[in-house]
Amino acid sequence: MIALGNDHAGLELKNAIKLHLDERKIEYKDFGTYTSDSADYAVYAEKTARAVVSGECELGLLFCGTGVGISIAANKVKGIRACCCSDKFSAEMTRLHNNANILCLGGRVVSVEKAIELVDVFLDTKFSGEERHIRRINQVIDLENRF
Ligand code: RB5
Repeated sequence: MIALGNDHAGLELKNAIKLHLDERKIEYKDFGTYTSDSADYAVYAEKTARAVVSGECELGLLFCGTGVGISIAANKVKGIRACCCSDKFSAEMTRLHNNANILCLGGRVVSVEKAIELVDVFLDTKFSGEERHIRRINQVIDLENRF
């Protein structure tokens, strides 16, 4: 199950990605917002992030205008490693090396075609599990626990 969330500026891209997930028969839960009325990204980042941290959803996809605001907000939730990407290499590496659990995309930055490419590589790539990456992620978790 994939968690989805967005503000008004990410709505159109999220809806396009939902069609793509439907085609791939990938299940998702949409935490809103559902209309183009102005909405605050932190609200939807939190709902989506909590679904990932609780284990209800395996991974998350978040959308705002740039992907930046919603990634900053999601990363405030303990256990979230959200990455804002607009290139395929980073979307792949953030799963392989950072074990990122949320991908954030900018509806005003990437095309639907590019977003599909990024979503596919993000969802299809597994964490490498290599010792050095586990060590580095644990350092980040430690940092999170000290504040
Ligand atoms: C909304 O206009 C916009 O600021 C928001 O979607 C996002 O891009 C913030 O980072």
